[in-house]
Amino acid sequence: MDALAEQYAIRVADLVVGFGQQTVIDHLSLDVRRGEILGLVGASGGGKSVLMRTIIGLIPKQSGRIDVMGRSVDGGLDSTTRAAAAMWGILFQQGALFSSLTARQNVQFPLREMLALSETLLDEIATAKLEMVGIAPDDWDKFPAQLSGGMTKRVALARALALDPAIVFLDEPTSGLDPIAAGDFDELIKTLQMTLGLTVFMVTHDLASLNTVCDRVAVLADGKIVAIGPMRELLQSEHPWVRAYFHGKRSQMLQPKAS
Ligand SMILES: Nc1ncnc2c1ncn2[C@@H]1O[C@H](COP(=O)(O)OP(=O)(O)OP(=O)(O)O)[C@@H](O)[C@H]1O
Ligand SMILES: [Mg+2]
Repeated sequence: MDALAEQYAIRVADLVVGFGQQTVIDHLSLDVRRGEILGLVGASGGGKSVLMRTIIGLIPKQSGRIDVMGRSVDGGLDSTTRAAAAMWGILFQQGALFSSLTARQNVQFPLREMLALSETLLDEIATAKLEMVGIAPDDWDKFPAQLSGGMTKRVALARALALDPAIVFLDEPTSGLDPIAAGDFDELIKTLQMTLGLTVFMVTHDLASLNTVCDRVAVLADGKIVAIGPMRELLQSEHPWVRAYFHGKRSQMLQPKAS
């Protein structure tokens, strides 16, 4: 493996993705460093989820190149294979958990799919992951409908981590959570990054998350990454969309009002 492959968890070069006449990702390039938390922002409908789904092979690309952990995923590394599962875990924007399975069974699901393990071992791994994300034993056998939104996200994260992946993809993990639960979730992500050396690719609109947990933030506009860097650099950006996003009315609300 060459030095660059060791440095980057994900390398996307000149990627084009579209549906029919619509081009969603338009010659996009993006490098995600190993061990970093990268935040991805962009307009609603701008292609953040499409980009994430293309990287993990759920949506076919029209052209360009995608490397994950130093190997090409061109030709579609099937996201259901063991090799893919070892590389990444995913927390989807919608439908985070299987509604007919308990929290514990949800976490066991990928383990059952990929590994031949005894029931005892399955239980041990699942409960270790649930503990890691802060789910109490009383809640291990609850069904998704019996969990709060924040707990659901944590269980989904435990499931994403079941196979000890190198990368986790999180699609708006804190949306719908109250600010305290969102802050706790952010802290959990940061802890996992530091203790497990995880690379985190996080789509989010949450300005607090971007500020507190992301090492770098990438901005997707017009199908491309128009700006990337630490928040303090992006706040200085002259790009009109970036300015509107970070200095618009909604983000001003975070500042104390001038009297
Ligand atoms: N499977 C699909 N088939 C056709 N069009 C799709 C498909 N998936 C996404 N699109 C289109 O691609 C565009 C980008 O969608 P995407 O879900 O990536 O937006 P997003 O940036 O994640 O938005 P949000 O912030 O609202 O989640 C949209 O116009 C959407 O309608
Ligand atoms: Mg989306």
